[in-house]
Amino acid sequence: MDRKVTVVGAGNVGATTAQRLIEKQICDVVLIDIAEGLPQGKALDLAEAAPVEKHDASVTGSNTYDDAAGSDIVIITAGIPRKPGMSRDDLLKTNASIMKGVCTQIAVHAPEAKVIVVSNPLDAMCHVACETTGFPRQRVMGMAGVLDSARFRRFIADELNVSVENTHAFVLGGHGDTMVPLPRFSTVSGIPITELLSSDRIEALVDRTRKGGAEIVGLLKTGSAFYAPASAAAEMAEAIIKDKKKILPCAALLKGEYGIEDLFIGVPVKLGAGGVEEIIEIRLKDDEAAALNRSADAVRGLVEQLKRLG
Ligand code: NAI
Ligand code: 2OP
Repeated sequence: MDRKVTVVGAGNVGATTAQRLIEKQICDVVLIDIAEGLPQGKALDLAEAAPVEKHDASVTGSNTYDDAAGSDIVIITAGIPRKPGMSRDDLLKTNASIMKGVCTQIAVHAPEAKVIVVSNPLDAMCHVACETTGFPRQRVMGMAGVLDSARFRRFIADELNVSVENTHAFVLGGHGDTMVPLPRFSTVSGIPITELLSSDRIEALVDRTRKGGAEIVGLLKTGSAFYAPASAAAEMAEAIIKDKKKILPCAALLKGEYGIEDLFIGVPVKLGAGGVEEIIEIRLKDDEAAALNRSADAVRGLVEQLKRLG
């Protein structure tokens, strides 16, 4: 294929993202991981599935960044998920250090790539990626809103017993407890859910969406979600590769939009060949704007903490 995506981190999210991308024949994929043999083994396994899945996309594994050369997009999933006994600071520090190392290599070996950050804490990791690569804000973005919105859509479809294909949902803000699902802009075939569900039911779905990641961690016990996160990352990559001009909620660096300065946070953006081609500003009601500002404060707190950690 003539398009190439490098996925850094061949763990649960990374390998599944690679699988989504090749099986949809969106691009060829290079999987890179620090663990010797892991990306090679997963890539070989995925490649051996290709005859049965009926596609000709290539997937290879590597431990070096030379193989990222010429990538249109680099998706970064390297990092550790939170484990029992670990503080948020531990995760922040460890993943920031991994992100710095990865992005230093990306800046050298794939200087024209768009970067999609997946590693957590998502919005703070976008800051590290943007600062370390030195790439313009159009080329650095984070995946969270597509996942959080997909969860909201799933819950709406189940509640109303309708096809997920009829649902649309928007979740703004940081990827954490303060995320801001927007019922007013969440619809079934264009009908706002505020017309279809009681406020109590909407609040229950909103709450489940906010806790969506924790719900899966609680069930899996050994790690976090990866099928839906991989689908979400692949949708963003596809929008860029196919220049679809798709409006998706993504973490983007705001420079005054929504009254927020120099902060990565989830907002609707237009994704196309240029990466984040436009940040879409929608007029929020006072309570929605207040919720977005609270979420921004939480992200800012993590970014400040990162600065103190050095
Ligand atoms: P995982 O543990 O299955 O995989 C992580 C991989 O990163 C491992 O294979 C590990 O060897 C690799 N790695 C560690 N340090 C590296 C380095 N310096 N260079 C290259 N590779 C390195 O974890 P999983 O489930 O794939 O999650 C990955 C990250 O994505 C976590 O931080 C998780 O919290 C985050 N995540 C974010 C989501 C979002 O919505 N933004 C959704 C799901 C996960
Ligand atoms: C999630 O929302 C862990 O951020 C990850 O599933």
